[in-house]
Amino acid sequence: MQRINIDGLKVPVLGFGTWRLKEQGCVDAVKYALSNGYRHIDTAQIYENEDAVGTAIKESEIPRDEIFLTTKIWMDSAHDGDVQKSMEESLRKLKVEYADLVLMHWPIADVPFEETFRAFEDIRQRGMTRSIGVSNFTVAQMKDVKETLGIDIVCNQVEYHPALSQQPVLNYIQTHKMFLTAYCPLGRGEVLYNSAINDIADRHHKSPAQVVLRWLVQQEDVVAIPKAGTKSHIRENFDVFDFNLSEEEMHEIYNQARDDGRIINPAWAPEWDSAKAA
Ligand SMILES: NC(=O)c1ccc[n+]([C@@H]2O[C@H](COP(=O)([O-])OP(=O)(O)OC[C@H]3O[C@@H](n4cnc5c(N)ncnc54)[C@H](OP(=O)(O)O)[C@@H]3O)[C@@H](O)[C@H]2O)c1
Repeated sequence: MQRINIDGLKVPVLGFGTWRLKEQGCVDAVKYALSNGYRHIDTAQIYENEDAVGTAIKESEIPRDEIFLTTKIWMDSAHDGDVQKSMEESLRKLKVEYADLVLMHWPIADVPFEETFRAFEDIRQRGMTRSIGVSNFTVAQMKDVKETLGIDIVCNQVEYHPALSQQPVLNYIQTHKMFLTAYCPLGRGEVLYNSAINDIADRHHKSPAQVVLRWLVQQEDVVAIPKAGTKSHIRENFDVFDFNLSEEEMHEIYNQARDDGRIINPAWAPEWDSAKAA
């Protein structure tokens, strides 16, 4: 499995997303993913499936240090003290002693970053996680945390697929010892109907999903975490390491980005970076 090395943190470039997987269905899907070679699992407090993810990891009998495990702290736990409490609860549910990466799920307007991220540093220093990062942060917000506060965040997890350019975030992470984790990497299925992507897939005898995932993991410092509950999808999504996209094909897929390509845009979202500013 190809990994990104960020200061000794070795991150498998293809992970398994678990949003909307619950209870036994989640246990079965995560165990199936692990038995098919996945070594990177993405969960969050708010997904209410950390318990099931933990059970799957335990039942897989794969040594803890071979799995890269990410969880996220929800917006109602951004204060000092609450971050630590949320993390203790996550570790108890996950049945592990540490996470590999913990992310602030969304930027919070009413709690100073300094308070939240000093608490994040605290959980890292206490060994509850090997690294810390953010999710859904803009470039200016990453700068505030990384440069103004001097806090060593290693990741920004953002929506990224062919219909949505993330050029400003990519430019920042590629020059600041960080990686980008692409969520909704399959655009929830929508991008799989794109004709340019289907043509490239036919040429390589691969599926559109495999082409999209290959396009993501072939980019510098990009990790993808497709979610799948269907066994054939779980297998298919992992089978992307036996072919390469040409420079031309990569660019053809970059060119599919649209101004209205974003899927996840809740009321609490920040003012997103414009791709045109990159
Ligand atoms: N940080 C955040 O705010 C945030 C937000 C959203 C998501 N995430 C993370 O990112 C993960 C992935 O995002 P997502 O679940 O929203 O979307 P996604 O991975 O882009 O799409 C998942 C959908 O695609 C289908 N699918 C999977 N593989 C397929 C294949 N090979 N061919 C055709 N369809 C396929 C799945 O169907 P089946 O399930 O039926 O297989 C499911 O309906 C989440 O699970 C979560 O871990 C994070």
